[in-house]
Amino acid sequence: MDKLEIDFEEKVNTGIPGLDELLEGGLIQRSSVLLRGNAGTGKTIFAMHYLVHGALNGEPGVLLSIEEKKKDLYREGARFGWDLESLEEDGRLAIIERQSSYSITIHELERMAKSIGAKRAVIDSVPALFTSYPNELQVAEWRSAFHLLCQVLTESCGCTTILITEAGWSKQFPFEEYVPKGVIELSFKMMEGKARKFLLISKMREMRHSKSLHLYEITGKGFTLFRPNKFQRGGM
Ligand SMILES: Nc1ncnc2c1ncn2[C@@H]1O[C@H](COP(=O)(O)OP(=O)(O)OP(=O)(O)O)[C@@H](O)[C@H]1O
Ligand SMILES: [Mg+2]
Repeated sequence: MDKLEIDFEEKVNTGIPGLDELLEGGLIQRSSVLLRGNAGTGKTIFAMHYLVHGALNGEPGVLLSIEEKKKDLYREGARFGWDLESLEEDGRLAIIERQSSYSITIHELERMAKSIGAKRAVIDSVPALFTSYPNELQVAEWRSAFHLLCQVLTESCGCTTILITEAGWSKQFPFEEYVPKGVIELSFKMMEGKARKFLLISKMREMRHSKSLHLYEITGKGFTLFRPNKFQRGGM
């Protein structure tokens, strides 16, 4: 049998403090990862952090934002010191809003990703994308449409892709976690009367990743994971 060659250099840094070390250095280049969480867990901020880190380090990115308008994202990004508008003007970031049809949206995403040489992509969010064009796709077509979306972004465009989804959506869309290479879950848990936020890498093919719950916070600098024992030490 041929020896399996693994290129450990082919990793994409998320730029999120504490996360890359749990992923043996980062996400696998040109893979797709599902980012799932309840409302308000910080999925959009996670994705912006990932894209801005890439944009500032020579890896342009494209964001498909179905429900949030570009100007709202500019304003939200500014709260973390991220000048999304300037990054767009420089061709290091492209934010695409919902277009008039599903196929035009996907076409526009691919066109824009190629035109700026994007290496990173984010869909915010998969449920919003599929439900905003209810008459264009039947449930039975969703799996192949989802597969095609991942293929276009990772293979045709060469982007390492984050697909944002909602907790509970997999009941309607049970295959969404089987198509991407990895699944990262964000959740709240009540501890000592306070809602704490936790990240879990529940799946990451081809990787020996952490399987613990990791406490995270959203601060003025974006998304940050704490070391596993931070909370137990009473540091938070
Ligand atoms: N500057 C900040 N400092 C601390 N926490 C913040 C700050 N800005 C936002 N947050 C937290 O981030 C949450 C919103 O983050 P985000 O919009 O990324 O969530 P989301 O998971 O994308 O939500 P949705 O499912 O509604 O799209 C807020 O509910 C708040 O708890
Ligand atoms: Mg969001």
